[in-house]
Amino acid sequence: MTARFVRTQKEMEGRYEDVWALVDESDDVRTWAPDAELSLVGQPAPRFDGMVRATGRARYTVDVRLTGMLHAAVLRSPAAHGRVRVLDIEAALAAPGVRAVIGPESELSLTRSSPLLAAEPGYAGQPIAVVAADTLEAALEGVRALALDIEVLGHVVDAREAVNEHQFIGEPADDSRGDAEAALAASEVTVEVSISTPAQLQTPLEPHAAVASWDGDELIAWVSTQGMFAARDELAAAFGLRKDAVRVRTEFVGGGFGAKQGAGFEALAAAELARITGRPVRLVNDRHGEMLDGGRRFSTQQTYRLGATRDGTLTAIEAEAVLAMGQGGWAMPTLVPARTLYRCADVGALSFPARTNLRPVNAFRAPGVMEGTTVFEQAIDELAIALEMDPLELRRRNHADVDQASGLPYSSKQLLACYDRAAELAGWDRREELRTRTGDGLLRGMGCATQIWWGGGGPPSHATVRLDAEGNAYVVTGIQDIGTGTLTSAQIVAAEELGLPLARVRVVGGDTRHNVYGPVAGGSQTTPSVMPAVRSAAAKVRKTLLQLAGDVFEIAAEDLEMANGRIRSHDGAIDAHVTEVTEKLGNATIDGSGSRGPNPDGFVVHTFGCQIARVAVDPGLGEVRVERIVAVHDVGRIVNPLTASSQVEGGILQGMAFALTEELVVDPTTGVPVNGHLDDYKVPSIADVPEIVIDYAHVADQNLPNTGTKGLGEPPIVPTAAAIANAFAHATGRRAAALPLTRSQVLETLA
Ligand code: MOS
Repeated sequence: MTARFVRTQKEMEGRYEDVWALVDESDDVRTWAPDAELSLVGQPAPRFDGMVRATGRARYTVDVRLTGMLHAAVLRSPAAHGRVRVLDIEAALAAPGVRAVIGPESELSLTRSSPLLAAEPGYAGQPIAVVAADTLEAALEGVRALALDIEVLGHVVDAREAVNEHQFIGEPADDSRGDAEAALAASEVTVEVSISTPAQLQTPLEPHAAVASWDGDELIAWVSTQGMFAARDELAAAFGLRKDAVRVRTEFVGGGFGAKQGAGFEALAAAELARITGRPVRLVNDRHGEMLDGGRRFSTQQTYRLGATRDGTLTAIEAEAVLAMGQGGWAMPTLVPARTLYRCADVGALSFPARTNLRPVNAFRAPGVMEGTTVFEQAIDELAIALEMDPLELRRRNHADVDQASGLPYSSKQLLACYDRAAELAGWDRREELRTRTGDGLLRGMGCATQIWWGGGGPPSHATVRLDAEGNAYVVTGIQDIGTGTLTSAQIVAAEELGLPLARVRVVGGDTRHNVYGPVAGGSQTTPSVMPAVRSAAAKVRKTLLQLAGDVFEIAAEDLEMANGRIRSHDGAIDAHVTEVTEKLGNATIDGSGSRGPNPDGFVVHTFGCQIARVAVDPGLGEVRVERIVAVHDVGRIVNPLTASSQVEGGILQGMAFALTEELVVDPTTGVPVNGHLDDYKVPSIADVPEIVIDYAHVADQNLPNTGTKGLGEPPIVPTAAAIANAFAHATGRRAAALPLTRSQVLETLA
């Protein structure tokens, strides 16, 4: 292989970093042409592990049981802010079956930049100590024996109060351009909208979990994580190990949604307890622990002032966001929609990351952008109302042809086509007829919203393919499938490139032992990062196979092609099963490795889309029912329409719940969450699912290597809540000052 290094930009959820990308000069795989005739890519294929999952044979981290394994239980802070007065570690160690206890004074906690276990917890649910025992019951008894006594200190959970007291995580940010204030003053039409959005919990069905086991100086850890390589690196650093002395296994994950991007507290604590005891240790959050400490979106208070000309050209945007950060986290890009969604030169953008006594925020599916879109797109609708203009028409009129922040062109953008297709599928032209009262006494309305997000992926990402004598391919990836079916996408791409049927391609991931790197399954980057590497690796194997076939059939390799498991010559004279060549390999294999190339210079890579919601509101009961959602997204080429539709449906349901029911409610007097259980924190059930109609722009991104695919994990959640809120306003003529649109919120809004 001839290789060179190039510097390229890598994006993850709106944060850019420069990375070195390894470019393989022998890789001559070009992006499929827009009209390429592909036999498997773009065709719906069930997950190859669907039966394993559906029959309960899939082993998730919570299912791992090892010989001699201990169980860990966590003591969490009952107070939003406090100081530990009594923690009786000796008593816990003396409890029956208890093998080890770690607390704020333990070595692992003290050597970290932020303590793993807190002597002065800053939020309710923060871990203070962990007990490992022969059984979970014994571990829970050990936790009780700790007899925690805590001095309760003052707390702040109201983000406005924190802002007034200048309590921030980092600094307030000013991302303004131009002069929004002057532009607003000069605008012919202006509107102002202030709306708050709820703290939403990721609520994965499999909670955060880890099982750690030492073998001499080597650590093996099963971790329920979106990033097994990140987890490996974190564990290696924490325990002073070489990276290859840590093996992380993440075969099946019961959801993460952003909350599981590394080793997590769970793997670090389990590994430390396993080190102390010499026994495997299992640490699984109980549901209440998961709801208190698994993660959350920040709640926000956002204000937008928009200015426009009479004919609907945006002339000014002033945006302000207060973000309830809790004790840490990063200030996710809430004002990116205001800054980039539409063409506008004068944009004011101020955000205030408030420090409160809540759990640190972590990533949750399209973090920041989803919250920002939810309010900004309602402000755009208010502008349409003020202008007496069709809301979709207003959006079309202010379409951004280039990235508004950088001035760079997009690698691809099919947003206008998404508007057209969504309008057609939703029956947008009959929107006003919905408001005619029908016999059921419900108020109906239809609303739309635009989606923007990143999702271009990037290097590094690698794959290997090995073809054996029986003509079967073995693909190794660094993917940890968090439930999306992405391993099946890799199977499709490898089979397409190899010219083999799906059944002849086996794909593995979920294990760092192969040292075939894949990125964290976040930022909608897995498909656009990993699939090009898989295709490159498969292309090398195909090339070698055809060379060997040329020897066997005494013909030039260029005159041969692979399709559906057969090797054919262009003139039709040769038509042989692949095994006629591979059987001669004996126990040898044909190997290829591939890596993801750099992103194109001079382009900004984004995904786009439009969703349209139809709702029915019961004005007497305050109930909002989402009847139908149309979603049309531009995510480049679709690899597997079946799993793609699962992504869209999942994103829409989470977005719908953000709009209607989900909210972590915190008691202001104690600072303690009051609905940290699944019975009072309302995630949607099957009975809440509306009709969901899905389509795509179906235009491959020709600037991306080499499959033309963009990511789809996050785009679908971005516009859903805004579309629903706009439909609610259309139905009722009122706009709620806060989401979620619970019955009390609706009745208050309509009163
Ligand atoms: Mo990120 S919310 O893990 O895609």
